[in-house]
Amino acid sequence: ASPALADDGYGLWLGSAREQGASVPVDWTSDSPTLRIAAEELRRSLPAGSRPVLLARADDAALAGQRIDRQALGTEGYRVQHATIGGRAVTLVTGATDLGILYGAFALLRHLDSGGDPANIALASAPQTRLRILNHWDNLDGVVERGYSGQSLWDWWTLPDFKDPRYADYARANASIGINGTVLNNVNAKAESLTAPYIAKAAALADVFRAYGIKVYLSARFSAPIEIGGLKTADPRDPAVAAWWKAKADEIYRAIPDFGGFLVKANSEGQPGPRDYGASHADGANMLASAVKPHGGIVMWRAFVYADTDPEDRAKQAYTEFEPLDGQFADNVLVQVKNGAIDFQPREPFHPLFGAMPKTPLIAEFQITKEYLGFATHLAYLGPMFEEVLDAPTGARRGETVASVITGKADGHTLSGMAGVANIGRDRDWSGSTFNQANWYVFGRLAWDPGLSSQALAREWAVQTFGSDPMVIGTVVAMMMRSREAVVDYTGPLGLAHLFATGHHYGPGPWVSDLARPEWNPVYYHRADRNGIGFDRTRTGSNAVAQYAPPIARRYADPRTTPLEDLLWFHHLPWDYRLADGRTLWEEMVRRYDRGVAEVAAMRAQWATLKSRIDAERWTKTDTFLAIQQREARWWRDASLAYWMSVNGLELPAGSKAPE
Ligand code: GCU
Repeated sequence: ASPALADDGYGLWLGSAREQGASVPVDWTSDSPTLRIAAEELRRSLPAGSRPVLLARADDAALAGQRIDRQALGTEGYRVQHATIGGRAVTLVTGATDLGILYGAFALLRHLDSGGDPANIALASAPQTRLRILNHWDNLDGVVERGYSGQSLWDWWTLPDFKDPRYADYARANASIGINGTVLNNVNAKAESLTAPYIAKAAALADVFRAYGIKVYLSARFSAPIEIGGLKTADPRDPAVAAWWKAKADEIYRAIPDFGGFLVKANSEGQPGPRDYGASHADGANMLASAVKPHGGIVMWRAFVYADTDPEDRAKQAYTEFEPLDGQFADNVLVQVKNGAIDFQPREPFHPLFGAMPKTPLIAEFQITKEYLGFATHLAYLGPMFEEVLDAPTGARRGETVASVITGKADGHTLSGMAGVANIGRDRDWSGSTFNQANWYVFGRLAWDPGLSSQALAREWAVQTFGSDPMVIGTVVAMMMRSREAVVDYTGPLGLAHLFATGHHYGPGPWVSDLARPEWNPVYYHRADRNGIGFDRTRTGSNAVAQYAPPIARRYADPRTTPLEDLLWFHHLPWDYRLADGRTLWEEMVRRYDRGVAEVAAMRAQWATLKSRIDAERWTKTDTFLAIQQREARWWRDASLAYWMSVNGLELPAGSKAPE
């Protein structure tokens, strides 16, 4: 196979592997902007010789003779199959709604792009979650908090007049993987985003996104009634405050009739909230919920709260605050829970709130942008991390997993969802590197169906991104599947976490101990001294394990039954603690740091074998980034080990490669 021409990555997974331009006939039985988009996608990309395609809603009279399980379609599902309609052999793409049909069109293209048999088409799927949402941490000045791929996509300056064509490209990419909502602004919100000019700008974006099935949401600053409303308080129990929010919601819905609702970060990291007035998180959420309720809107209220004044283990605080509120939230509120109890570390055990609030719909929040995994530079495919959390049994009931909680199945909730902190910016390739695009992709696909396998999705993405050369696909998938574990190994093996240089979170800083807030210091998390290392979260320590349901709590309470991956998250152990395989803790730690460094070297060597098979632009950028990662993996290991050795006074075990 000859390498493709230069590919700048703008086309994402919909890029160069497509655009066949064979103009296969595509008809549709009713008209809408959404169906026209679906038809256009198919015409542009279906291979020559494909059967003609018919797009039709499941209740269309033309389909009267077809056996279609309408129940299974739901409102967003699709079915794609060969059929004979009006005497004509077609590929039928159907759904209960036009959006379902659009998803079906993308599914058909995905099927064909990833080597699916064109003669055997029978695709059917419906999303397992209602809300599949990107959270943009985009500030109004264009800076993206924790964003590593350029300025915000939203050009607030030229909106609402100029609708950059890129907005439609963004919506198209999202629709192709089933994402149906976007929160436009940072959770650390400015009240200005709720003023009339910004509502008009958001409305312009909503106008572009609508046909792609993407709803717009806004992060709301809780103190907005004071800052832009002229009130003296933002107390959610004050009728004037509630009236202000109601009027604000009415104003937004006049501009954006299908506005999704609000996302709120309250009483966390300095943000205002109901606790400032002695009211609860439920009081705050419910007040906002009643403002959007008449319009069908929802509130996503974040559980990411911890206070500097609170001496309790930071890992426990969200549960302590929210678990007692179960049952008190209005029916259009979801509580948004980060995958783990601290903060998007390369590995965290699942958040103990999953399984602990059966009366409340919980929406899981993952970070797609790699704040703690080497920004845009390091290669880390997050699919296995998302999957590990989604598949985790909560222990609350037999068979219950994080996935079954957030799909609403465990507790019979109709509201359900997954949120991902976006890694998208104005960089030509959207996400700062080719491989980061895979994290956007896998988030969308898993939000649609948390039961999909991260390995299958890596393959699916790779084929659409690089074409079908089996040598390329095999190598790329192998690299991806080991990449996240490599980052865990060289930044914080065995359950260590939060060892990052403070503030920016790039590079090692396990020695940092001088920040005013104790729980922002890495030493707070590793607790290493001459005798041992790790955070005792058992009964003899913070007892955070007791926040898990009994079967899980029991497992984590004993270092012998705690998975090695989470060992020092839950236990403080002596450096010479013997692991099951006979190694000491210190030996195993060093071994893992070495392994992480070796994995990066292996990824780089594997990538080198693809040089003649991938276009020069993407190959060279990835190769250069891998070289940076290789250097920085060594930096992580050597700096971390030097620090641990200064604390424990031990030598490097024989055979260790450090320092290089
Ligand atoms: C992390 C991140 C912040 C962000 C916060 C949040 O702490 O570093 O930038 O604001 O998470 O999720 O609210």
